[in-house]
Amino acid sequence: MYRIVKKRILNPTVTEMQIEAPLIAQKAKAGQFIILRVDSEGERIPLTVAGTDPEVGTVKIIFQVVGATTEKLNRKNEGDCLCDFVGPLGTPTKLDGLKNVCVVGGGVGCAIAMPIAEQLHKNGCKVTSVVGFRNKDLVILQEEFSACSDRLFTVTDDGSFGEQGNVCAPLERLLEAGERFDEVIAIGPLVMMKFVTLATKPYGIKTTVSMNPIMIDGTGMCGGCRLTVGGETKFACVDGPDFDGHLVDFDEAMSRSRAYAAFERHAHEETCNLFRKEEN
Ligand SMILES: Cc1cc2nc3c(=O)[nH]c(=O)nc-3n(C[C@H](O)[C@H](O)[C@H](O)COP(=O)(O)OP(=O)(O)OC[C@H]3O[C@@H](n4cnc5c(N)ncnc54)[C@H](O)[C@@H]3O)c2cc1C
Ligand code: FES
Repeated sequence: MYRIVKKRILNPTVTEMQIEAPLIAQKAKAGQFIILRVDSEGERIPLTVAGTDPEVGTVKIIFQVVGATTEKLNRKNEGDCLCDFVGPLGTPTKLDGLKNVCVVGGGVGCAIAMPIAEQLHKNGCKVTSVVGFRNKDLVILQEEFSACSDRLFTVTDDGSFGEQGNVCAPLERLLEAGERFDEVIAIGPLVMMKFVTLATKPYGIKTTVSMNPIMIDGTGMCGGCRLTVGGETKFACVDGPDFDGHLVDFDEAMSRSRAYAAFERHAHEETCNLFRKEEN
């Protein structure tokens, strides 16, 4: 069993937890993920390692409540235990040798982008962070990004915090002004990552995206997480989750990501009804 050591609400739909998992805390690197089950009846869900404390033996996860399992996880409190917590899985993000990088995060994707920005900063790289949210209530991790970024641009769709617009606006401005990043690393909704790759393509700037398709086993056996990258089939859980964004077939990935929408809606409604009954 894996104890929840700390729980912090970051915004109305995003929660941070520190989980006691000493072996994973020693091995995990930026860009890797874990798969957890809340209880023995639960489904397996992947979440990125948002940080580790190898000395204390804890792993940080940051998750958005979007459906049945994240709802169930969010109801757990400090001192409660999770049934399974497996990892680290996936390939760490390749950060060695980079000197000038733009890290782009969208929504809860910022939770995945933040440890990458932190590691780049520790490596002595110049870090420009561009983070975007729908509105000011959903803004997360500003302090953490400020601490590890040489420049931080925050945008919101409605302009209620930072600049109004989407993440491509500051990025395009920097590129048009002649900024030549070694690499752009974009993590967020599929449509956001697609548009970031379209913005960087004319400049020939390497653009890495973190893909998050449905995962089941997380070890390359079920095929659930397959993607087309450069015309070849890849498994995000073992070949990724990072890929060259200019080679990813985003339209196919978006269509596959909608395949289970009806099932997920049903499971979410059932979970909410279950908790409502328990509370009455
Ligand atoms: C490698 C990877 C890392 C991720 N890291 C984070 C993270 O750090 N923070 C975070 O908030 N979210 C992260 N996600 C997404 C997270 O796994 C889903 O939000 C979660 O599984 C939703 O489960 P649910 O039952 O609450 O919602 P559901 O209603 O079941 O699903 C809502 C949406 O979540 C996605 N999803 C559902 N089940 C899975 C699954 N088994 N595998 C992948 N995606 C699924 C689908 O896009 C789906 O439409 C990551 C996904 C992957 C693949
Ligand atoms: S999750 Fe099964 S092959 Fe990737």
